[in-house]
Amino acid sequence: MTTQIIDGKSTAAAIKAEIAEEVKAIVAGGGKQPHLAAILVGHDGGSETYVKNKVIACEQCGFKSSLIRFEADVTEAELLAQVQKLNNDADVDGFIVQLPLPAHIDEQKVIETIDYRKDVDGFHPINVGRMSIGLPCFISATPLGILTLLQRYKIETSGKKCVILGRSNIVGKPMAQLMMQKQYGDSTVTVCHSRSKTLKEECRAADIIIAAIGRPEFVTADMVKEGAVVIDVGTTRVEDPTHKSGFRLRGDVKYDEVAPRCAYITPVPGGVGPMTICSLMKNTLAAGKKEYYR
Ligand code: GUN
Repeated sequence: MTTQIIDGKSTAAAIKAEIAEEVKAIVAGGGKQPHLAAILVGHDGGSETYVKNKVIACEQCGFKSSLIRFEADVTEAELLAQVQKLNNDADVDGFIVQLPLPAHIDEQKVIETIDYRKDVDGFHPINVGRMSIGLPCFISATPLGILTLLQRYKIETSGKKCVILGRSNIVGKPMAQLMMQKQYGDSTVTVCHSRSKTLKEECRAADIIIAAIGRPEFVTADMVKEGAVVIDVGTTRVEDPTHKSGFRLRGDVKYDEVAPRCAYITPVPGGVGPMTICSLMKNTLAAGKKEYYR
């Protein structure tokens, strides 16, 4: 089997360059520079990195960005007040609150306080609901990034058997919705999770596996059909003293043994990760253009 490695890093770079071109034209025509704001609470290493990369991506796309930081002991009321402030700030086209939040803050309450018209993460129930019935809306970044990779690599999904591992609100559930819809994946979708009794059998029958369970190297060669497409959403940090950061990212797929069986596979890092940030940029551009909502 010749395996094609899906290069998320270069795909994301190409899309960001396209966005930058469009922003240049908008600004040259007297239009408004898109503006993304991010709220970061505490100092979680992963969240710090993600937000830093989002700010860098904004620069690459020609967006304005604002980073608003709070210490981990911020009260829920203070955070909600900041969300309201961004809702009412006409210069801010879209914003995100980086998750996870400290345990004393009700995450769902924060998400529901965000004006859905500025919810470029696509986490607000209005966006989730609109997405699930195929209406124009902000689609959450990781599922949108995966759809974009499948499209750019011209991978046939219509009528195929797609198995999704994981049922999170951020990835598994929206991914399942999108893969089943005629206008996106048009696939036959099965969602498996930690309690699924037939998980291995389902995977073995799958044309496309999207692994988002957060368990490193969970998907092994014996679970993958010859010629399958494997998308790895895992980003677990494992200690690695040979890396300058002291850790490296491990995917949900045992790459070395699975890759030879695949028609297409995404690496970790450099697969889905860069596409997630790139999709947030797409959503921010759409927010700036008021593409979905006035
Ligand atoms: N934490 C992990 N992924 C995400 C994401 O896509 N958006 C936000 N806001 N927080 C996250």
